[in-house]
Amino acid sequence: MADYLIAPSILSADFARLGDEVKKVLDSGADIVHFDVMDNHYVPNLTIGPLVCQALRDYGITAPVDVHLMVKPVDRIIPDFAAAGATYITFHPEASEHVDRTLQLIHDEGCKAGLVFNPATPLSYLDYVMDKVDMILLMSVNPGFGGQSFIPATLDKLREARKRIDASGRDIRLEIDGGVKADNIREIAEAGADTFVAGSGIFGKAEASDPNKYDSILETFRAELAK
Ligand code: DX5
Ligand code: ZN
Repeated sequence: MADYLIAPSILSADFARLGDEVKKVLDSGADIVHFDVMDNHYVPNLTIGPLVCQALRDYGITAPVDVHLMVKPVDRIIPDFAAAGATYITFHPEASEHVDRTLQLIHDEGCKAGLVFNPATPLSYLDYVMDKVDMILLMSVNPGFGGQSFIPATLDKLREARKRIDASGRDIRLEIDGGVKADNIREIAEAGADTFVAGSGIFGKAEASDPNKYDSILETFRAELAK
């Protein structure tokens, strides 16, 4: 069986209780923390920066942190995220003047690097940098907000990305982000994804008063993936 990772997007978490919510969802079996960074410029929303990443580390979160940069320009914030404890740093190629240089910068800062593809962005951005990516993130919604519906054309794009990864022979994660729910995660895995971001599908489902509130949704995801 593929080694599947579940990456809750904290965009949909209760920010007033962020540290506890992240701990709870990890205790329930989530693998990595998906950290959405929006700048009100590249995308029409504003979220969190390195300070919050550092705060989660200081709070004792040791799981990998998957920083999804939806910012333009990208380069100047990368060292700050590396210093704040990011594990992966991914960015949108349209937001960087020099994609190869940005990938190199992320590696130089000691993090794993990835490219993010909007629904209409072609995978050809990968053509000359496959040897420099550790993760390919396909957006299955337009970036900026949680709670949108999965765009079905992404399934074909996943199959194409999976072929490119297999042909490269490299260990590259294929992550999907947007509209991932218990009722489509199996189909998404069959199309080739191995890393699943879910925001509203995890945090939006839980009953606030339930101390083990994330157990059942994570179990449902795992059961779907094991089918
Ligand atoms: C959207 C973000 C996503 C978002 C996913 O720009 O990149 O990570 O939080 O949220 P859901 O799972 O609700 O579509
Ligand atoms: Zn994201």
